[in-house]
Amino acid sequence: MFAVVGTPGDRRVTMFADACRAEGAGEPRVVGWPDVLRGADPAFGPGTLVRIDSPGEDPEADALLRGPGDPTRVGGGAAWYAAFRTGLERVRDAAHRAGARLLGDPDEIAVMFDKRLCHARLQAAGVPVPPALPEVTGYAELRARMAEAGERRVFVKPAHGSSASGVVAFQTNGTRVKAVTSAARGPGGFHNSLRVRTYEDEADVAALVDALGGDGLHVERWLPKASLDGRVLDLRVVVVAGEPTHAVVRTSRAPMTNLHLGGRRGDLDAVRRALGEDGWRRALDVCARAAACFPGSLMVGVDLLVGIGWRRVAVGEVNAFGDLLPGLTGLPEGPAVGADTYTAQVRAVRSGKATPCAT
Ligand SMILES: Nc1ncnc2c1ncn2[C@@H]1O[C@H](COP(=O)(O)OP(=O)(O)O)[C@@H](O)[C@H]1O
Ligand SMILES: [Mg+2]
Repeated sequence: MFAVVGTPGDRRVTMFADACRAEGAGEPRVVGWPDVLRGADPAFGPGTLVRIDSPGEDPEADALLRGPGDPTRVGGGAAWYAAFRTGLERVRDAAHRAGARLLGDPDEIAVMFDKRLCHARLQAAGVPVPPALPEVTGYAELRARMAEAGERRVFVKPAHGSSASGVVAFQTNGTRVKAVTSAARGPGGFHNSLRVRTYEDEADVAALVDALGGDGLHVERWLPKASLDGRVLDLRVVVVAGEPTHAVVRTSRAPMTNLHLGGRRGDLDAVRRALGEDGWRRALDVCARAAACFPGSLMVGVDLLVGIGWRRVAVGEVNAFGDLLPGLTGLPEGPAVGADTYTAQVRAVRSGKATPCAT
């Protein structure tokens, strides 16, 4: 009944397969991203429901997407995106020919993997987002756009990045600069590290922003985030078939909360108390409205920023593959109590709550 395009053996694929089996939906057919990226047309059966998952974290897929090189290097987003879109089209065409249906619309996935397009779509729909600056391609331009906008603290994000790769929390007081990022400078350029570090030498910051600039940068105002116990936080909210089903608090001492960078899961009850019942409902409503911008996607993962003071929320990004949250069960008031993110999706499809998109 189900097929999944992903990395064979990867947790994302095995956890989805576990959910399929447990729900009596049989063993999903696994189509490897490397095969798709090499040009093989996936063979789907008629009526198969095709889940497209991440090609990430697989060096083989990475080399096919970005070209050969050190998989930890920062950058190469434009090449990655072009190859990824070609792969998505191949999956779509194969599904169309076979009479299979997709659980995620390739066009929507493509928008979510371009932070500029994603931001613009959310803003056009009236979903709160941090205000964006015009796109920049390098450091001099970044400073010029910041000066024009009167912004002193911004987030600079590679347009096609994920897992905080190349993301820079940048601030200046007019003379000195400070950039916080997980990118580490080495002899061969910048690479992703698991440690967030601070650069205060402008030459380093300029080298990083210039290195990333050619692939497109999305720049937006730095929203100072609420904190608990000295750690800033945001929420990852998974929305399945239009309804927020799962939420996890991500806390960090660094401005980026991504869990692989030392971010830790935080206390959701404490966050709900701090937001208040109304604030919590409004926060979930913003996530549902963000998800509604992607109606052809069975699931999206919304990064919800909560401002200092707990009154403002804004969407940092929407993730097409934002459901890898092992061990997390559904919100008590939602439709996925006790179920993980994968089970929630299998159930939503099988109960007819979600309509897979035609190809
Ligand atoms: N405008 C912003 N203000 C404050 N923090 C932000 C802002 N945008 C992103 N962040 C933080 O940076 C982290 C990474 O940014 P995000 O847009 O989610 O990129 P990625 O795709 O790399 O995860 C997020 O977890 C969030 O906590
Ligand atoms: Mg994110």
